[in-house]
Order: sequence, then structure tokens, then C-alpha cells
Amino acid sequence: MRFGLIGVGGIGRVRIKALEQSANCSFTAVYDIDKSIKDTVGKDVQVFDSFEALAMSDACDAVIISTPPNFHLDQAVACLEGGKHVIVEKPMASSLDECKKMLETARKENKTLTVGFNHRYFDAIKTVREAIQSGDIGELSYIRAYGGHTGLSEFKAPWMYDKDIMGGGTMMDNGIHVLDLTQHLMGGVKSVYGFALTDIWKLDRSEDNGFALLRGNNGVVASLHSSWTEWKGYHFSIEAYGSKGMARAYYAPMMSTVITMEHKGGPKKTKRNFYLPAIFREKFKGWQTTVIQTFVDELDDFIALTNGKSEGAVIANAEDGYRAIEIVNGIYESSKTGSAVVLDENI
Ligand SMILES: NC(=O)c1ccc[n+]([C@@H]2O[C@H](COP(=O)([O-])OP(=O)(O)OC[C@H]3O[C@@H](n4cnc5c(N)ncnc54)[C@H](O)[C@@H]3O)[C@@H](O)[C@H]2O)c1
Repeated sequence: MRFGLIGVGGIGRVRIKALEQSANCSFTAVYDIDKSIKDTVGKDVQVFDSFEALAMSDACDAVIISTPPNFHLDQAVACLEGGKHVIVEKPMASSLDECKKMLETARKENKTLTVGFNHRYFDAIKTVREAIQSGDIGELSYIRAYGGHTGLSEFKAPWMYDKDIMGGGTMMDNGIHVLDLTQHLMGGVKSVYGFALTDIWKLDRSEDNGFALLRGNNGVVASLHSSWTEWKGYHFSIEAYGSKGMARAYYAPMMSTVITMEHKGGPKKTKRNFYLPAIFREKFKGWQTTVIQTFVDELDDFIALTNGKSEGAVIANAEDGYRAIEIVNGIYESSKTGSAVVLDENI
């Protein structure tokens, strides 16, 4: 499949490497407001003067949007209306209204729209998903999730913590990945209760720590904490607890633990995995190597979806992207009112 890219910044450049490594994709079109990017892409990539021109061209079949979130709506709608399938980076957009318009356009145009929740493809996450789906840990009861980084020192630009651009603070930034993993593994969220704190960085409306209690459609409960004050550096973890055991994924470094018990109070069986190839690859070639691998897997799922093959695909679709923002907004509302927020049944 021929891909265009809008936004060639930090993550856009990692997207290009994934397109180059994927056996099923080629990188054929690009647009960025920064005109100097034309000297940094290959000669056979067509460089456009506007996202509208790229959207209307015949230079690609699908587009990856990797710009700040306040631009996602206009760019995604133009590409969908131009007949392109779209992968938009997380968060899907800065507001729920914008996500809704994107979702509706994809439905109207009958095009595939997915959201870049690439953590679903981390090897340790695959282990947890398999432990749940195989029934190894029994019936799922609750999930405990955490994601954090150091906050202000981590950001290359002020828009990255600007509420009007990002739509929020840590929950919209790193937290949304763990939130998506949580909704993905628990099978959908029904209600949310939460707190958003601005005590530490005292940013305008952008929380430095967010906490949530989620109740799933199936009764599963999840607790979630997202932080911009993780002094030890970037990491996340997610743990699923069932009637016969538990499964845990941790990053970084990548590791997983699955503990199972055939009968209540019986002996435990523990399986640990340290993903040594990933750990060494990251140590010598950087964390981007893991992200590239997840993007390549995501691209395969995306292409399958555009061909109507959703079986086995774990890619986050537009509904998942919408739900993630709805949950974050629910946390913000709950934090103000002190009450739980019930999500819309239909979207
Ligand atoms: N999947 C992940 O793990 C992950 C990681 C980091 C960032 N992201 C997301 O990717 C997106 C981009 O983040 P980034 O860190 O690469 O930012 P960045 O600032 O490094 O890059 C943004 C790029 O977009 C360009 N740009 C800005 N406004 C534009 C516009 N109106 N039209 C076209 N180009 C424009 C900039 O010139 C720049 O090249 C954000 O949505 C962010 O949340 C995802």
C-alpha cells in the first residue's frame, strides 16, 4: 500500500522508518509546514505544498497524520474525503467533538480510520492479552495500570503540554496509551470516576497526574494512574487479575510475568520473560527500534482492515480512539463534580 505522511517530526520520522521496513508498504507522499523536510526525504517521495493537495492527489492510498492533535480533524477529514484510508497519531484529536466528526466522515466515506495506539503491539502486552484470551488466568476480575514520565523536562515544545492543543495533560499524552490498553484488555468501559491534579507543575488546565477508576461493560474494574512526575523516567505497567492467576507487562525494560494456579490455594506456576533481544536492541540502537517494530505490525493490521479482514487484528479503530478521549473527558468532569460519569452507549 502507498502511504503519505503529514507531519515529519519526532514520531513522523519513526513512521518513515517503519514504512521503509514494512514489506507491504511504500512511502510515496509527504507534507509538513516546515518546508525544509523536502531535503530529508527520498527522491521518489512526492512533496506537497498543502495537506489539501496531498489529500486530493493520486500519490498515495493511505495517509499517516503525525502533527499536533489540534490539526488532526481538518487533515483527517480532507484525506478521508480525498478517498484515503487514515492512521492518525494519538490522541485522536483535542476534543470529543472533533473525534466525532472524524468518525462520522470515515463512516460516510467508507474508509478505514485508525488511531496510533501502537503499545497494543508491544511483546509484553501480547503476553498479557494471550493470558486473558486463552483463559490461562481464568475469568478477568480487575486491571491495574500505570504510565509515567518526568513531565516538563521531557517536552521538546510547549504545545505538548498546552490544554488547547493537546486537549489535556498527562492523561492525553502518555496516559492515553495505558488507558487504551486498559479498555482494550478489559473489553470496553461503561463508567469512569477520576481525579486530575495540577499540584506539581501548576500548568493551566493540564493535569500533571490523573487517576481513574473504570467499570467495564462486563463488570471488570480497572484502576489507572498517569503521571508527569515519574522522576525515574519513562515507564508503564499493566496487570490483569483473574480467577486463576495474573499477568503483568512492564516497560522499560520490556518484561512480563504470568502466574497461574490450577485450583484455588494450589501450587503456583510462574512464567517470566525478559525479552532480551528487545532489551539489547534498545540499549545499542535506541527505544525507537521497538516503536518501529510495533508500527510495522500496526501497518499489517491496518492493511488487513482496509481489505475488510478484521479477524485477529488488534489495531485501535476510530471507535477506540473516540472512547479513549471520552474516558479522559470523563475523568476531568468527574474530578470537578465528584460524581462518576457514564459513557454514551452509542457512538
Ligand atoms: N505513538 C506514540 O507513541 C507517539 C509518540 C510521540 C508523539 N505522538 C503523537 O504524534 C503527533 C506528533 O508528535 P511529535 O512528537 O512527532 O511532534 P513534533 O513536534 O516532533 O512533530 C510535529 C511535526 O508536524 C509538523 N507540523 C506542525 N503543524 C503542522 C501542520 N499544521 N501541518 C503540517 N505539519 C505540521 C511540524 O513541522 C513537525 O515536523 C502528536 O499527535 C503526538 O501526540 C505519538
